Amino acid sequence: MAWLYAALLGYLIGSIPFGLLLALAAGKGDIRQIGSGNIGATNVLRTGSKGLAAATLLLDLAKGLVAVLIAWRWFPEAVSVAALAAVIGHCFPVWLKFKGGKGVATNAGVSFGLGWPIGLAYALVWIGVLALTRISSLAGMAAVVAAAVAAALFGYERFVPVLAAIAVLVIWLHRENIRRLLAGEEPKVGSKKP
Ligand code: G3P
Repeated sequence: MAWLYAALLGYLIGSIPFGLLLALAAGKGDIRQIGSGNIGATNVLRTGSKGLAAATLLLDLAKGLVAVLIAWRWFPEAVSVAALAAVIGHCFPVWLKFKGGKGVATNAGVSFGLGWPIGLAYALVWIGVLALTRISSLAGMAAVVAAAVAAALFGYERFVPVLAAIAVLVIWLHRENIRRLLAGEEPKVGSKKP
């Protein structure tokens, strides 16, 4: 039963739509009607509020971290299940008719929870690609792949399958971004366009 509890725990924590809630609370309206319609920090930044975007990033990251840390304590044999469930909860929240975010920030927290070298690799690649390109989607996709590679390189082979599965999911959720990237139309961070 541990895997079931871990799945429920991860999903419920991951499904809290912080971007939507913060934007509503700050009077910025429904973030799903703005920019790309995504509920993540990149789109919250399109409301013009850096503070709200930073808070969304930190809280979305924190929920991935908390889900995995609780699983380590209560269901250590099902940590991978909690990790996957947290990202699935963020991407497909029942409260928003299963239309949520793209999982990059939540998977950052998950990665730190699974092992600090994985989280460090994630953060370095994410920040590095963002600094070089200023394209959030590209940085996020590079980071999710980096997490799976880092797990394989740094002795966390047990978590390679779940991180690879999350990478596939996150990249699939970025298919519109990939289309824009290939067309040279993906906006830089801070742009109001989707
Ligand atoms: O984490 C989401 C980011 O990678 C892309 O966001 O709003 O530009 O689709 P957005």
